Amino acid sequence: MKILYLTSEARPFIASGGLADVAGSLPKALCDLGHECRVVLPLYSDVKPEWREKMTFLCNFNVALAWRNQYCGVYTICYNGVTYYLLDNEYYFKRSGLYGYYDDAERFAFFSKAAVELINHIDYIPDVLHANDWETAMASVYLNKFYRHIPLFKGIRTMFTIHNIQYQGQFGMNIAWDVLGIPEYHQNVLEYDGCLNMMKAAIQESNIVTTVSPSYAREIHDPWFSHGLDGALYNKGDRVIGILNGIDVVSYDPSSDKDIYVNYSADSLDKKEDNRKALCAEMGIEYKKDTLLIGMVTRFASHKGLDLVRYIFDTLMQDNVSVVVLGSGEREYEDFFKEVHARYPGRVGLRLGFVPELSRKIYAGADVFLMPSKSEPCGLAQMVAARYGTLPIVRETGGLKDTIHDMGGENGNGFTFQTYNAHDMLGAIQRAEKLYQDKAAWKAAMRSAMSCDFSWGKSAKEYIAAYERIMKD
Ligand code: GLC
Repeated sequence: MKILYLTSEARPFIASGGLADVAGSLPKALCDLGHECRVVLPLYSDVKPEWREKMTFLCNFNVALAWRNQYCGVYTICYNGVTYYLLDNEYYFKRSGLYGYYDDAERFAFFSKAAVELINHIDYIPDVLHANDWETAMASVYLNKFYRHIPLFKGIRTMFTIHNIQYQGQFGMNIAWDVLGIPEYHQNVLEYDGCLNMMKAAIQESNIVTTVSPSYAREIHDPWFSHGLDGALYNKGDRVIGILNGIDVVSYDPSSDKDIYVNYSADSLDKKEDNRKALCAEMGIEYKKDTLLIGMVTRFASHKGLDLVRYIFDTLMQDNVSVVVLGSGEREYEDFFKEVHARYPGRVGLRLGFVPELSRKIYAGADVFLMPSKSEPCGLAQMVAARYGTLPIVRETGGLKDTIHDMGGENGNGFTFQTYNAHDMLGAIQRAEKLYQDKAAWKAAMRSAMSCDFSWGKSAKEYIAAYERIMKD
């Protein structure tokens, strides 16, 4: 099976969120199963020079977008056995950061069309074009409306993966022709609820739609989670499936992770304590043996459940706990964490930003990892935390529900609560505090969390089965 995997970010080249982790590990897992998966992503100026130096220029071509005719250069690099194509256009991608520009619709439509056009210029005809999130959603539309008549493209099947249904690529219909170059007689594909919706178009145009956990696949059929797209998903019938993300278990391994203070495994948990001590020192937390250290690494966005944390924070601080937080995003949450950081010196540690090395130190050094999301398509941090013996405290939603099970039941590897309610969350934290005082029980709990298998093995096979299924269409 040959797969061409389209993504707006992929580790190790460029990352801003969980998509980069998935795009940096699933293709390798597919290759390990004996298939071929190549990855296409934009060549942003933030891709570091040390990577650029290793890339080879392959070819260039032009991409038509309505009345525009834009240059596209193709650079290639093989990393970990996977071939990557990085598409270059300085007008669109020579800017700092990845997203958030006024012309994002045009930038990513360009990228999506260029990725399809690429097939005309390389020696690789994929069986499946696998697009991810709204940034690459237009690929299936361009393929179906502009390329199907060319023999090379006839048999290509399409998969679209939703990593977060909240971000749909919604714009005014007025850009449909002028920017995207979609003629009026095809514009019904793009239209949804009075505006242009790229994710809706990909749902409609792709052979199959997947999302990143079975629970989230069920949830997004419900208007509470769907951000308006439940109708489009219902129309797709059984062509919407959930496949749980894996994590890169080689990179995220406490026994070899170079970014943590001291390496350890389930057999040397005393060394985890050394990580806790060092993390406290780094984050300005007073180190005490019996104080439960709660870690959080999160984007400051409302769906991450930060309202719950804010609501009970002062009550929580009456307990024997301290908190370390790493994150950035919406101003109101930044302000909240800055304020409690000032009010609880030595008990609340805060770092604003996206700092991958520090996040690993928190996975290793905290006792519990709090992730009370309102919705969570999959979530990767809770799996990494469990693998590092840091017990996750999660709300039972999406991928959190599929990966973390309460210590009170079978296969316990963390603490969970059901309702989106601050005191239910507090209850889960307090159950952790109680167990923490029983050192032997806590060690056993850490060991069971660390023994969970979060590798791609099973899920990569499910992707192959889904690809094979659409090949029969
Ligand atoms: C998005 C989701 C997150 C998921 C990740 C990778 O960032 O919000 O839950 O783990 O994509 O699929």
